[in-house]
Amino acid sequence: MKRADVSSVQAISDSARAGVDVRAELEREHARIWVARDEHGAIRGFCLAWVVADELHLINIATDAAHRRRGFGRRLMQAFMSFAREISARLLLLEVRRSNRGAIGLYRQFGFVAMGFRRGYYQQTNEDAVEMMLALDPKTGQIQPGRDEVCVVP
Ligand SMILES: CC(C)(COP(=O)(O)OP(=O)(O)OC[C@H]1O[C@@H](n2cnc3c(N)ncnc32)[C@H](O)[C@@H]1OP(=O)(O)O)[C@@H](O)C(=O)NCCC(=O)NCCS
Repeated sequence: MKRADVSSVQAISDSARAGVDVRAELEREHARIWVARDEHGAIRGFCLAWVVADELHLINIATDAAHRRRGFGRRLMQAFMSFAREISARLLLLEVRRSNRGAIGLYRQFGFVAMGFRRGYYQQTNEDAVEMMLALDPKTGQIQPGRDEVCVVP
């Protein structure tokens, strides 16, 4: 994303209640933000990740509510995955609300598996977070086989 995109990205974050301070993230050396644009150049989603040594943490991904199920989320995940391979990341990590079937479905399409729960992680609703991960071979970028360690469906 460019600095000029801050307000569009912040608006998407706010309406998705993602809780991201976009301007502050741009200042973090370890943060990366990608945006997805429609055919007219309008921003329809963003993805925020942090590089932590040889890990890449997906901090948040959100698309404009009026433009969901049109592939913007998938395109953002593709950018995230390409970057992971570019930096030879070994481990990709994220947390997601247990009830967020849409996001979990999206992550699964990219090979993420459920490793565990963080009980009551989301304090306002006391909802559990599902910890998901994807291991890559840092040399080839190939996905390492993994499987769920916990059952996500309640
Ligand atoms: C999760 C989110 C980013 C997906 O974005 P999107 O632009 O709708 O994603 P896509 O259109 O690329 O969908 C890709 C796939 O994800 C899955 N998916 C996305 N939304 C879904 C939903 N509501 N229900 C079930 N599966 C869903 C589907 O497998 C979908 O593929 P399909 O449309 O071919 O069936 C979007 O719903 C969002 O912004 N949600 C609010 C914020 C959020 O919860 N972020 C995750 C924080 S961890």
